[in-house]
Amino acid sequence: MHILVTGGTGYIGSHTCVELLASGYRVTVIDNLSNSKQEALHRVSEITGCELDFVRTDLRDRAVLEALFRDRDFDAVVHFAGLKAVGESTQIPLEYYENNIGGTLTLCKAMTEARVKKIVFSSSATVYGDPASVPIREDFPICPTNPYGRSKRFIEEILQDLYRSDGAWNIVLLRYFNPVGAHRSGRIGEDPDGIPNNLLPFIAQVAIGKLPRLRVFGDDYATPDGTGVRDYIHVTDLARGHLKALEKLATDPGVVTYNLGTGRGYSVLEMVRAFEQTSGRSIPFEIVGRRLGDIAICYADPTLARTELDWTTDFGIEEMIRDTWRWQSRNPEGYE
Ligand code: NAD
Ligand code: UD1
Repeated sequence: MHILVTGGTGYIGSHTCVELLASGYRVTVIDNLSNSKQEALHRVSEITGCELDFVRTDLRDRAVLEALFRDRDFDAVVHFAGLKAVGESTQIPLEYYENNIGGTLTLCKAMTEARVKKIVFSSSATVYGDPASVPIREDFPICPTNPYGRSKRFIEEILQDLYRSDGAWNIVLLRYFNPVGAHRSGRIGEDPDGIPNNLLPFIAQVAIGKLPRLRVFGDDYATPDGTGVRDYIHVTDLARGHLKALEKLATDPGVVTYNLGTGRGYSVLEMVRAFEQTSGRSIPFEIVGRRLGDIAICYADPTLARTELDWTTDFGIEEMIRDTWRWQSRNPEGYE
């Protein structure tokens, strides 16, 4: 099976390439390297002992995409490529819509022409907005609160329209909760540009002394210790979810949606304490005001993925933090 992985040099894409190659898939990656480094793929090959093809291109380059689908015999596409920073999406919404939606349209047109009609799409728990209750099931209302989240909702709907127009399509929409961690080898991991927005990469940079202290955004939420609760999921578990989704694509056509989360929430302060324990470093922090747009509590009901995909998570919070720490301490400058 030959899989086209868009955005495959990125954080989740590179970990998924490891799992695909290790399971015997042939892999071609396309990426414009706007938020990643090609070095990640060298390390993927080093980890797996397998080669993969890389084509540097923007997804919106229709001529390149059409030529690629003409020349290669893809069986399915795993579509990660996109811009993902929530705050930035509120500053430059048109870039987000053009890149995320425009890229998906070009991809789907090239797939249609080549009669490749199997796709796994990276959606996000952010499409649920502020849920009325937890755990969150796939049939909860969709109500994203920022342009990034809306781009995900629109793409989900575009893919549903595509299936309605042509019942030969087979589409899996995966809504990720909070991906963290790194490959256990410590060779690939998350390499954020500048100061991280997300909690775990920020804590990791405090632990190695690159940043002085964590700012905890609010301790007055209606949660056990007042700080925000999230469903952190190890990136390797998440990557393996894509292999299960590809197996699903081999069955009857349709559009299906799955939450990929553990079903267990951890607060900011629980994460700080767990990181201190695992790394042996102290994580200085101060409590500051809430971050605009944040919600109190968010965790998945992962039952559907378990029953229909036979997917469960293998790694808990200790492995998530252990592997984040191994990656961060061995690669303090990321892939540089
Ligand atoms: P990432 O930024 O590390 O990877 C995305 C990759 O897409 C990057 O390598 C980037 O260079 C590439 N890319 C962006 N626009 C492109 C274009 N027009 N043409 C070609 N390549 C392009 O992000 P990630 O964390 O690996 O996320 C992968 C996907 O999962 C994204 O779609 C993201 O929205 C989604 N997602 C991520 C998270 C998360 O917390 N990391 C959570 C939910 C959903
Ligand atoms: C963010 C995105 C969301 C995306 C998710 C997974 C926003 C508003 N939302 O959500 O769309 O799907 O990442 O990538 O950016 N925290 C601190 N201090 C920090 C950083 C975070 O206290 O320096 C807290 C937050 O308030 C939150 C928790 O840590 O309670 C997790 O934050 P983060 O890692 O940014 O993830 P999300 O807020 O879930």
